[in-house]
Amino acid sequence: MARADGSGARILGGSRRSRERALAVGLVGLGYWGPNLLRGLMELADVEVHYICDLDEERLATLGRRCPGATATDHYEQLLDDPALDAVVIATPVFTHFKLAAAALDAGKHTFVEKPFAPSTAQARELMELAGERDLRLMCGQTFLYSPPVREVKRLIDTDELGQIFFISSSRVNLGLHQRDVSVIWDLGPHDFSILLHWLEEMPESITAVGRDSIVPGIHDVAFMTMQFPSGIVANVELSWLAPSKLRRTAIVGSNKMVVYEDGTAEPVRVFDRGVEYRDPETFGEYHLSYRSGDIRSPMIPSTEPLVTELSEFVRLIRAHETSSELELARQVVTLVESAETSLANGGLPVSVGEGPGVPPSLGGASPRARIAA
Ligand SMILES: NC(=O)c1ccc[n+]([C@@H]2O[C@H](COP(=O)([O-])OP(=O)(O)OC[C@H]3O[C@@H](n4cnc5c(N)ncnc54)[C@H](O)[C@@H]3O)[C@@H](O)[C@H]2O)c1
Repeated sequence: MARADGSGARILGGSRRSRERALAVGLVGLGYWGPNLLRGLMELADVEVHYICDLDEERLATLGRRCPGATATDHYEQLLDDPALDAVVIATPVFTHFKLAAAALDAGKHTFVEKPFAPSTAQARELMELAGERDLRLMCGQTFLYSPPVREVKRLIDTDELGQIFFISSSRVNLGLHQRDVSVIWDLGPHDFSILLHWLEEMPESITAVGRDSIVPGIHDVAFMTMQFPSGIVANVELSWLAPSKLRRTAIVGSNKMVVYEDGTAEPVRVFDRGVEYRDPETFGEYHLSYRSGDIRSPMIPSTEPLVTELSEFVRLIRAHETSSELELARQVVTLVESAETSLANGGLPVSVGEGPGVPPSLGGASPRARIAA
């Protein structure tokens, strides 16, 4: 790899990106998601991928061809031992997040760890403390926070266009990818939890979850969760790896308008000027309801790629020496997953969020995911 300054990274010549050297980054985990992160990192002008790392030699060889400038290794320690490496991006299974992220921070590397932040709330807090002590940037990959449709819905909520939010109902279902080490709640739940916390800026008081391990014994592949928020909002989230077709649809019902956010469609946000007005009874027992059914609007949504925006934010935090404002949210997401798992393990009993130890994902060995053939 060409390194013009002899200190481990290329100097960006003469541009207004100042004379900062490119950020030297190592990526660990080249399974399903890692290659997307690799592509995103390679798109960033002031990042150089110095290492790709995986325990699987075949994946290393395949990805090595896509990124010939990087050293391919199955030894994570090699990244940590390199003083020229600035940052590590971790896309390994959930149960490895804490160990790998803590080791990266210990070695003085800025660290980006995929969602969910850590396998337990306590470990999420520990990572935050470690980053603080070491004065290093730590970020959790919560891609949907950088999704333009999610941001548009946030704008609609914040500007009060929807009025008072009554309830939210969401489905995130697909056929596969089954995981053998964590439930569908640990796998897909962080997406919906992070979106809800971002939109509503409040933590639910309680959560209930029921589900079923339809295919792999002990691993729930479908879950139905209901959350009660202090403001009165109720949210329902359905998660599944076992569905006839892919659906990522959320309906937000407010007193003024309603929104349907459907990821991956041509019109991902549709605003319905629809609602019901209730008038107090004028005479005993006679209340009036009037239904409003107005226009449906589909706002223009920018086409920026969330993954690239998210990785740019990690670079910006490092450059600006800023702490990520989303870490606490990432920690809360882990708490919600734990609470949902506790409810699941107790037959759907309501769990006060933050109460009890929760149920961490299995700490078993590295386990490949099994794809269910369509
Ligand atoms: N942000 C998103 O939208 C999004 C989407 C999918 C997955 N993810 C997250 O990405 C992470 C990885 O998920 P995945 O689906 O790619 O998993 P995966 O099982 O397909 O891939 C994980 C890879 O990590 C490697 N690995 C495990 N331990 C390692 C170690 N100690 N050193 C080096 N390599 C190691 C494995 O060999 C495997 O290739 C998870 O945390 C998941 O939640 C995020």
